[in-house]
Amino acid sequence: MTVLVTGGAGYIGSHTVVELLQTNFDVVVIDNLSNSSEEALKRVQRITDKSVTFYQGDILDSGLLDSIFTKHSIDSVVHFAGLKSVNESITMPHKYYENNVQGTLNLLAAMERAGVNKLVFSSSANVYGTPESLPVVETAPVGGTSNPYGTSKYMVERILQDLAASNEKWRFAILRYFNPVGAHKSGLIGEDPNDIPNNLLPYISQVAIGKLECLGVFGDDYDTPDGTGVRDYIHVVDLALGHLKALSKLESASGGLVYNLGTGNGFSVLEMVKAFEVASKRTVKFEIKPRRSGDIAMSYANPEKAKKELGWVAERGLDDMMVDAWRWQSQNPNGYADN
Ligand code: NAD
Ligand code: WQD
Repeated sequence: MTVLVTGGAGYIGSHTVVELLQTNFDVVVIDNLSNSSEEALKRVQRITDKSVTFYQGDILDSGLLDSIFTKHSIDSVVHFAGLKSVNESITMPHKYYENNVQGTLNLLAAMERAGVNKLVFSSSANVYGTPESLPVVETAPVGGTSNPYGTSKYMVERILQDLAASNEKWRFAILRYFNPVGAHKSGLIGEDPNDIPNNLLPYISQVAIGKLECLGVFGDDYDTPDGTGVRDYIHVVDLALGHLKALSKLESASGGLVYNLGTGNGFSVLEMVKAFEVASKRTVKFEIKPRRSGDIAMSYANPEKAKKELGWVAERGLDDMMVDAWRWQSQNPNGYADN
């Protein structure tokens, strides 16, 4: 069976392509490389000893999508392509709505023309805004987002639900990721931010390797056990495996199915720093800074629905996340640019 993976050269996409190939799917990737490198796909092929068909192009390009659906007998789509910087989305909302919302509409239209009706979508815990209660369940209110990135994910969720309600042929799995971290155990693929990282783990690991001086901890006066923000960090390989479970669910289910993909455990910023120091045997210098605008105190998932309906649970713990992130960082101090 052939799966089209949009954004397959990116962080989560490349890890998912590895698992798909190792499960004997044929994989076609479309990626415009706006936030990734083709080197990631070369390494995916090295890890798996299998080949990927790669199209460098944009999901906004309907002609390219049509030609891919014509050339390949695509069974389903796993849709990662999108822009993901919360900060950038606040200053460039148009870019985010065009890429994430219009891009998805384009993809859905091409699927419709090609008669392909199964899609797994990368949504985000961001759609919950500030959760009213924890752990967060899928039925919690969504849409109270505080930035265009999160709103773009919420809008796509609504579009998918409306399509699913309009015609039972559509089969969608909407996966709400919590905080993906870590890397493949080979150390060959991992997260490779273009610029100074926005997210905690890449920042910590670049301090540990000596590329950045000091981590700013954004606030130590939250209503959390140690005052710093608490999140549900999930190993990227567990996340990738969730996509395979979702694809298999779509073989027999229709509609718009929503699942949290998280571990159910929350860790604070300071706990993450400590755990990384243990895994890397390096010191991570940090200083307390003011809160980052838009941040929430705590977010962690109730992952029971994915367990019950998909048979999926996150199996890798905090130590695996840290050891694997450090292996990737220390073997590739400059990410794919080292190649
Ligand atoms: P990433 O930036 O590493 O991967 C996204 C990929 O999509 C990149 O390779 C990029 O070049 C490609 N891309 C972007 N716009 C495109 C377009 N118009 N056409 C073709 N390719 C395009 O990000 P990631 O961390 O792997 O995230 C994958 C998906 O998961 C994104 O949709 C993101 O919003 C979502 N997500 C990520 C996180 C996270 O913390 N990493 C959390 C929740 C949801
Ligand atoms: C985690 C914790 C920060 C950096 C964002 C998006 C979300 C999802 C994942 C895509 C918080 C603290 C961080 C730093 C710090 N992405 N922190 N110093 O904010 O939970 O989620 O990325 O969908 O949508 O909103 O993740 O890694 O940025 O922050 O103290 O330099 O680390 O305040 O408590 P976040 P994060």
